[in-house]
Amino acid sequence: MAGLCNIDEAIHLLQSGQVVGLPTETVYGLGANALDTTAVAKVYEAKNRPSFDPLIVHVADLDGVRNIAELIPDAESLLLAFSPGPITVVLNKKPNVPDLVTSGHPTVAVRIPAHPMMLQVLKQSGLYIAAPSANPFGFTSPTTAQHVLAQLGERIGGVLDGGPCKVGLESTIVDFTGESPKVLRLGGMDVDQLELVLGKLPVQTSSSTPHAPGMLSAHYNPGAKIVLHDSTDKALNAAKASNHTAVLLFGPVDDARYEHQYTLSTGKSYSEAAQNLFALLRELGTKYPEIHVVRLPEEGLGRAINDRLVRAAATR
Ligand code: TXA
Ligand code: MG
Repeated sequence: MAGLCNIDEAIHLLQSGQVVGLPTETVYGLGANALDTTAVAKVYEAKNRPSFDPLIVHVADLDGVRNIAELIPDAESLLLAFSPGPITVVLNKKPNVPDLVTSGHPTVAVRIPAHPMMLQVLKQSGLYIAAPSANPFGFTSPTTAQHVLAQLGERIGGVLDGGPCKVGLESTIVDFTGESPKVLRLGGMDVDQLELVLGKLPVQTSSSTPHAPGMLSAHYNPGAKIVLHDSTDKALNAAKASNHTAVLLFGPVDDARYEHQYTLSTGKSYSEAAQNLFALLRELGTKYPEIHVVRLPEEGLGRAINDRLVRAAATR
């Protein structure tokens, strides 16, 4: 069973070809040296992830991006505006990136994460780190080091503990390899913000998109059945009608009408809801067989949270 490690130990493990749980501002990643095919293979194996689902490569700065990808001006503008941060760009890859990282695609997904410990690992080691979210394939993404240990502790070299993730949703993915940029995954960076730099951005997150094979419709399984509702009343009625069922609401309601009632954000803020989402689903998934969740308004991060909820609801 692996344990927590410090920055130097994490770097040593990565340099010797092992996989390590690493903190980012979005979710914890399961990292390996992106240029070492044997190490990357261990990432797929530990997660039980199909090798047709490509990985994101994490780099320290724009030079890192240029060393593995063809950086075009629009993508550079976006990275200059929002990196380090919860944004991933898909670009044409350079030959040094192994096919296993990109699942044979001529493109690579790259991101500069905003977590100070992760940035230190990248800078101090000089490595490019391929890292998917550190959960077994199809399950809820981890937002603490303890989540990583609980699900993957037997299969990895260690976990660098960087505390709870501040964003809580995976990065927003923008593809620059088509005729014009498009969003492949809604995530921790609000699309409205990106549009300030790039103009109107189409969102194309369907599971049928060959370019984003990881956008599978069933994902984020927390171990309970998730049922989505469009109002608090409907969710409460459905929960009360069945036995020992939780209700998960966006904000607080004045009167606690039901004893198994939980809230994503006491201040009714999207960023707080995003921060709490995966940890709360995980916790409720261990306590209840069924969770009735109220959809958030389709605006800002509410869209990305709804996207995760729809996928979680499709898992069973
Ligand atoms: O916030 C994040 O992005 C986290 C942290 C750890 O950085 N990582 C993450 O990785 O969410 P993962 O593997 O769970 O999701 C990566 C997504 C998948 O949907 C995958 O299909 C897509 O990125 N992807 C990777 N390479 C791609 C490429 N070349 N073209 C299109 N999509 C790609
Ligand atoms: Mg994932």
